[in-house]
Amino acid sequence: MNISAFKIANKLITGPGAVEQLCAELTRLEVKNPLIVTDVILVNSGTVGLALAQLGDRRYGIFDQVEPEPEVAIVEACTRAYREGGHDGLIAVGGGSAIDIAKGVAAYAGHAGPLSELFGVDLVKRKGPVLIAIPTTAGTGSEVTNVAIFSDKQAQLKKGIVSDYLLPDVALVSPAMTLTCPRGVTAASGVDALVHAVESYISVNASPITDAIALGAIKLITKALPKAYANPTNLRAREDMATASLMAGMAFGNAGVGAVHALAYPLGGRFNIAHGVSNALLLPYVMEWNKTACVERFRDIAEAMGVRVANLNDNEAADQAVKAMADLCAAVDIPSGLRTFNVPEDAIPAMAQEASKIDRLMRNNPRKLSAADIEKIYRAAY
Ligand SMILES: [Fe+2]
Repeated sequence: MNISAFKIANKLITGPGAVEQLCAELTRLEVKNPLIVTDVILVNSGTVGLALAQLGDRRYGIFDQVEPEPEVAIVEACTRAYREGGHDGLIAVGGGSAIDIAKGVAAYAGHAGPLSELFGVDLVKRKGPVLIAIPTTAGTGSEVTNVAIFSDKQAQLKKGIVSDYLLPDVALVSPAMTLTCPRGVTAASGVDALVHAVESYISVNASPITDAIALGAIKLITKALPKAYANPTNLRAREDMATASLMAGMAFGNAGVGAVHALAYPLGGRFNIAHGVSNALLLPYVMEWNKTACVERFRDIAEAMGVRVANLNDNEAADQAVKAMADLCAAVDIPSGLRTFNVPEDAIPAMAQEASKIDRLMRNNPRKLSAADIEKIYRAAY
């Protein structure tokens, strides 16, 4: 019997004033001394201040040492700050990096052994402290997923903790928190959200629930991302992107992502290319490979992206879907070609070996790939 579970953050609060609910949620969840997990740039831009302004004279601490594509060591440093400050809850204010670090702390704070024991699937033994996620980018969907990803620079690998105990208690998703998001990050994280929705829709684990959410996200992103990129203060476009990112997170948190993400991880781990950009570099080439496995699903994607499909057969519509994805990446000025990012061509065989072993993602993909197939895709994307 096939069974599909659907799990998201316990409570979603969305809309321009969502962050104003922060105090009510802390009270409801009986958090008296939260640790805010964020980065210096968001503190300096005033974005964290929008959350702090809600706290009044409540007690809290701030850990502002989160970095992009964060290293495992930052989870350890943040957990020390959490324990030493006597905190009883976590508020992540940031993109996927800050939310993932807070998830890592939630998993590690009550764990007696080393952090390394938690990397993998379902190795966290119990629910950790209360976690409230306030995203400041529209892309990762981390505010509704059970995954946290970290870099291990020494091993040149991405490492993940996957556990339902990482699902945040509350996701406060307010477009006002994304207004200072730089244009490059808006583009890259927006494309990441598109990839989440597309990979969920063609995942072998897709369900009618994730399908509806994924297609809705694809529609919103196609319309809103170029607008949010062109005019960063367009609150309506920011709101649509914040909602779409949340929806894409809900879809991929349950259906899973596939080969685009698997092939992107070695680019991030070895060459420090931002997650959304590495996804964008591979998206059209992996989709070219995938489309024969589920051509009618690609037709749906084309339609959601605004392609007039009425006079097209399924193959033609699928081609248009792949083209629409590449066009959207180009519209937000994401460069193409691995060579643009100084990826050495002779690294491709080792990257292909590495990607082929990411079974957690590859098993969701609608068409199987050998290491040789992956090598061809990297070369096409070069
Ligand atoms: Fe992603």
